[in-house]
Amino acid sequence: MRISPARSIRGQFTPSGDKSISHRAAIIAALARGPSLLSNFSTSYDCTSTLNCLRQLGISITAANNSQQVVGNGIGGFAEPDSLLDCGNSGSTMRMLAGLLAGQGFPSQLTGDDSLKSRPMRRIIDPLETMGAQIESNGGRPPLRITPGRQLNPIRYALPVASAQVKSCVLLAGLHAKGTTSVIEQQGTRDHTERMLEWYGAPIQTSEQKDGAIEIAVTGKTDFSARNVDIPGDISSAAFMIAAAALLPGSDLTVRAVGLNPTRTQFLSELTSLGGRITTAELTAVSNEPVGTIRIEGGLGPPEQQGTRRIGGQTIAQLIDELPLLAVLGTQISGGIEIREAAELRVKESDRIATTVENLRAMGAKVEEYQDGLCVDGPTTLHGALLNSHGDHRIAIAFSVAALIAEGDSEISGPDCVGVSFPGFFQLLESLAIR
Ligand code: S3P
Repeated sequence: MRISPARSIRGQFTPSGDKSISHRAAIIAALARGPSLLSNFSTSYDCTSTLNCLRQLGISITAANNSQQVVGNGIGGFAEPDSLLDCGNSGSTMRMLAGLLAGQGFPSQLTGDDSLKSRPMRRIIDPLETMGAQIESNGGRPPLRITPGRQLNPIRYALPVASAQVKSCVLLAGLHAKGTTSVIEQQGTRDHTERMLEWYGAPIQTSEQKDGAIEIAVTGKTDFSARNVDIPGDISSAAFMIAAAALLPGSDLTVRAVGLNPTRTQFLSELTSLGGRITTAELTAVSNEPVGTIRIEGGLGPPEQQGTRRIGGQTIAQLIDELPLLAVLGTQISGGIEIREAAELRVKESDRIATTVENLRAMGAKVEEYQDGLCVDGPTTLHGALLNSHGDHRIAIAFSVAALIAEGDSEISGPDCVGVSFPGFFQLLESLAIR
């Protein structure tokens, strides 16, 4: 995909349904009793993988416009699949479905593409085995073979890694255990599973502990009823357009009906502190998720702090999908950006530290690579280059933004992967870019 530099980004758009929320809506609707209409369901390949797996588990799913109707059969209402469950590129699909399948009375196997088959699954196998599940893996990586075992036992589980996928996996397994299962998280991660279970009236309770940690508890074996869900626009997809608009002077971009869940908006705070001119408005609650409008006026103002902007600690989990994009932004900030304590990036759809560093260097940026992050110098003029997506959607999209602010044309290899989270990304970009 060839991308030419742009002068500005102007116009408005409504992002497709949030990918993280769509996965949860489909899975929780499949656990409820009766039909749920899921409006503005994500068109991403990842969410299509979730829908296909649920169909293989006997769930009736029909598409209508941009909605999906999912007819749930209640807890324990899944049928034995007659073939492998293919999660494609989607870690969320595999980790959440593993939690759901661990307590079923039939065997199942979860697999995926080469990227997913290289990703760590020990983080979900350990708590599920503690609950009594039997899971074989390829040395802690997919495919996962789940053998029907004993009835699952409830556990109280302190998350060793800040991951919403692991949290959700244990909670979904807990819905199939006898008694109360809880997850304790020290670092807040996206809370869409909790919000969706609450929306459905499922037995879930969240409490804050003395040390500030959050404990989320579910009671197993309790049916809940179907309910319609309106899915907000995807803030993680919107983030790329927002960054492009912020970087290009003269831009004026409005993003409508976008999710503004506080566990997902840290990127907007970072961009504001880097001098981005952002206003959010019209905050309403839609299906238990905050939704609003974001306006970005182009050109960065003075940053809140002088020197290198350091990002690490608690905020990493809340910025995880936007970190490659922040590294691109860092090339344009006086003092640059240092990202640390982000080793999780190495086990995403690609090794996102290595793939970000490689592509930034190809464009002429000065970058230092660390085991747990990177440091990028700024401000630097980026040069058009041949950029390698490594089949990773967030890398392809982040470097499409970099290409817009570069001198000269760039070419992104393997651009089709953008559909993993953002089908239609290149078309939207062309419709908003002023050259
Ligand atoms: C997701 C959680 C994050 C994120 C991924 C989607 C989710 O992964 O990177 O794109 O929907 O729960 P981790 O929870 O493993 O950090």
